[in-house]
Amino acid sequence: MAILVTGGGGYIGSVLVEVLRERGIAVVVVDNLSRGHRRAVAEDVPFYVGDVGDGPFLRGVFREHSIDGVFHFAASSLVGESMHDAGAYFRNNVGGLLRLLEVMLEAGIGRFVLSSTAATYGEPTEVPIPETAPTEPTNPYGESKLTCERMLHWMGVVHGLRWAALRYFNAAGASDRCGEDHTPETHLVPLAIAAAAGRRGPLPVFGLDYPTPDGSCVRDYVHVEDLAEAHLLALERMSEHSAEIYNLGNGEGFSVLEVLDAVHRATGRPVPWEAAPRRSGDPARLVASSHKARRELGWTPRRDRLDVIVESAWRWALAHPHGYAPPRGDVLPHGHATRS
Ligand code: UFG
Repeated sequence: MAILVTGGGGYIGSVLVEVLRERGIAVVVVDNLSRGHRRAVAEDVPFYVGDVGDGPFLRGVFREHSIDGVFHFAASSLVGESMHDAGAYFRNNVGGLLRLLEVMLEAGIGRFVLSSTAATYGEPTEVPIPETAPTEPTNPYGESKLTCERMLHWMGVVHGLRWAALRYFNAAGASDRCGEDHTPETHLVPLAIAAAAGRRGPLPVFGLDYPTPDGSCVRDYVHVEDLAEAHLLALERMSEHSAEIYNLGNGEGFSVLEVLDAVHRATGRPVPWEAAPRRSGDPARLVASSHKARRELGWTPRRDRLDVIVESAWRWALAHPHGYAPPRGDVLPHGHATRS
């Protein structure tokens, strides 16, 4: 039996693939490589390039492998981008999930974990945010994931699907092997590291007029390996229980400016930055209550200090100056430079 990871070439998916393999669990990856990287996944992992919305393609994968659970990461996940192209978010996230579920259920696969998001809450009415808080997304990305969760609910009621939706707060950090490499990069930690390293200009801080102590947005940063471990726990629990939604965060909020300070501490270099207008769709403050995941899944984030998270991202950036791209300008033994 194997586990399918859709979007396994992406940032969080690739770390989960690594963790599954470390536990001796067979993994199959489906990724259309629109954002993910083949090199993020070990060569001996079966890796199928294609869309989760492509029924015949998926049926082929399910015929070749005996899959008994699916972790679904293959989706669009950028708040800012969703405010410019809302349709793409409903097409990729909601349409893609529907097709995947139909083919999965047809193949008799009944366990499913959705990569969901804190963006389902919108501007919270209470902080830390419990799973029972109202869901009023402030952007199409959050709305699309909320729709996905509702779809799972009804697939559970009608077809007996066992599912869990994990609402991540801000995934950050890296394992030794896998880290964050998006094109274009929009996430705070890798951008701040690039600015500190002099690989880009000053970082725009989107909004200094939020109702937060220093005026910049507050987020709950959670280590990507801790997120991956929560997935395994959710899958295990699903053998006995069904449908649940869990927040995954550390319960502590840090402002954008505090993150820049942490990057300064990790890299030893100040982050050049400049004030910029608010980014549309950004809530002021997102901090998780993860009591439910701790209580019911037995989840204990082990890398919960912001400094530990940022240091791991910095180590990965140092070891992978070009991300997953093949090394450029390698020096040949004869001293000639080459490009691949
Ligand atoms: N930010 C800047 N400048 C930048 C980039 C980001 O000021 O150049 C700010 C953002 O405005 C935000 C904070 O840094 O206040 C974090 O931004 P990210 O883009 O790193 O992350 P988001 O909070 O927008 O979103 C992330 C994931 C979503 C997830 C969300 C949950 O990308 O998928 O966390 O909190 F839904």
